[in-house]
Amino acid sequence: MARYLVTGGAGFIGSHLCRRLVGEGHKVRVLDDLSTGKRANLKGVPVEWVEGDLRDGALLEAALREVQFVHHHAAVASVAVSVAQPLFEQEVNVVGTLRLLEAARRAGVRRVVFAASAAAYGNNPQSPKREEMRPEPASPYGLSKVAGEYYCRIYSDIYGLETVCLRYFNVYGPRQDPSSPYSGVISLFARRLLLGQPPIIQGDGEQSRDFVYVEDVVQANLRAGQVERAGGEIYNIGSGRSTTIRELAGLLNHLLGAALAPQFAPARPGDVRHSLADISRAGAGLGYAPVFDLAEGLGRTLEWMRSADLRG
Ligand SMILES: NC(=O)c1ccc[n+]([C@@H]2O[C@H](COP(=O)([O-])OP(=O)(O)OC[C@H]3O[C@@H](n4cnc5c(N)ncnc54)[C@H](O)[C@@H]3O)[C@@H](O)[C@H]2O)c1
Repeated sequence: MARYLVTGGAGFIGSHLCRRLVGEGHKVRVLDDLSTGKRANLKGVPVEWVEGDLRDGALLEAALREVQFVHHHAAVASVAVSVAQPLFEQEVNVVGTLRLLEAARRAGVRRVVFAASAAAYGNNPQSPKREEMRPEPASPYGLSKVAGEYYCRIYSDIYGLETVCLRYFNVYGPRQDPSSPYSGVISLFARRLLLGQPPIIQGDGEQSRDFVYVEDVVQANLRAGQVERAGGEIYNIGSGRSTTIRELAGLLNHLLGAALAPQFAPARPGDVRHSLADISRAGAGLGYAPVFDLAEGLGRTLEWMRSADLRG
């Protein structure tokens, strides 16, 4: 049994990870300012709460006491916010990550697993995306995640703090907040369809994404915590399959037995055109293999959404 700190543990992905870690018998502490996360995401899960801002040094010190493993998910996880408030985004995502690494080093933490992002690739037209491609972030959010990766490697090289960076592609699943304008396209579409409203596609709908189910992302985190090599390695974590936004709207309609033709709105600034992961490095290095295909993951997500209050 080990003690884990999950920053952003009250959020969508973090809460799934916390549940799994607790289920495996570990002690889990959550550091979260509840800006987008919710305590309700961990209802009934025996975690230790440290409520506050990642950038608060005293709080970080307390949160890291007797911790061996950190999974760092706290971030402003939105391209749109980063475009509207770039300084705020960098403060939390870059300076916050640096503060965490520094505090972890001082506290004698063994390993930090960092929630990086496919946003690192930006509009690089090469497909699929491979980790060795030069980062070309197209938004302040993407840049903040690349900076976090570099800091992780530097902390491994210079200070010997073990780090692993996981570049998530488009993560979806239960507890992704469908009432937030920044949630993933799946929860936004599904919410509208469940309310009998047509999905709204931003752009022409031919943009494509690699949608990865949240439990597969949890699998990657567990493996990253155990793998031998942890010197700032970067791994794509996706499904390895590409789906256009139009196809997604069609599949969700099909799964819900609906036939609501999508409406179209202007494309969002900073959005990338195509995003598909080559996951072979994660397969070889971590033993990562996604288990959930899109239809199965969507089915589970819709089941949860049907039982959740969608009016919020
Ligand atoms: N969801 C995706 O598709 C996706 C893709 C790539 C990367 N990521 C990364 O994965 C991580 C988790 O994303 P998510 O989708 O679960 O988002 P989320 O917004 O649900 O989770 C982020 C959590 O961080 C907390 N937080 C934000 N700022 C904080 C601060 N200053 N101090 C303490 N806590 C703070 C929030 O309250 C929230 O609980 C993020 O780092 C995000 O950038 C997510």
